[in-house]
Amino acid sequence: GTVVALVPAAGRGVRLGETTPKAFVPVGGSAMVRLAVEGLIASGAVDRIIVMVPAEFVESAVALLPPSDSVHVVVGGAERIDSVRAGIAAAPEAAYFLVHDAARALTPPGLIARVAAELRAGHLAVVPALPVADTIKTVDAAGAVTGTPDRAQLRAIQTPQGFAAELLRAAYLSEGVQATDDAGLVELLGTQVHTIQGDPLAFKITTPLDLLLAHAVLDGADF
Ligand code: C5P
Repeated sequence: GTVVALVPAAGRGVRLGETTPKAFVPVGGSAMVRLAVEGLIASGAVDRIIVMVPAEFVESAVALLPPSDSVHVVVGGAERIDSVRAGIAAAPEAAYFLVHDAARALTPPGLIARVAAELRAGHLAVVPALPVADTIKTVDAAGAVTGTPDRAQLRAIQTPQGFAAELLRAAYLSEGVQATDDAGLVELLGTQVHTIQGDPLAFKITTPLDLLLAHAVLDGADF
């Protein structure tokens, strides 16, 4: 079955404090979206890559991505969910989808390959997961703590998130749904999501501190 990677890169990236959209911010000389696409190619597990970018960034995306017949750029949407929907529509041939944030630019190719392998082994939905270091609390609108979920049961979820293509298409058919990741939409359908061991290097580059960490990793810092 054909594996298509969808790379949402249409965010505006205000949290990084840059004017450039986050996916286009360079890390060690290469735009994050390029690093993410190179990782997908290096995994050897992906047949085609579709990158979703803001409309006015299509040309610059084509120019900075590795030249390849299997890498395509399409226009994303206002919200991440709209961007992924645009990617799904551009890949009718997919048997499996890997949805992978451009912002997880340093994701090891081996993790990408493991997600794809779990799909081929028959899991319908696969996400990389790591234990959380912090205690997580829920709060109300006033900031008062309303609960403390048992940390042992919590996981931080990364990308790529892998899905049988029919399942992801079905999850995205429902209009007006809300979820902060793709697996969240699949869970709403009642489908079980399988976790595999994530990787600290698949962290999402979101804040200036993350950017500093990414540079240190690329410079070969030991940690
Ligand atoms: O904002 P956040 O860090 O959750 O964004 C995750 C990924 O989704 C980023 O790679 C970002 O570029 C992408 N995104 C998108 N379209 C949007 C908003 C975010 O493709 N409208």
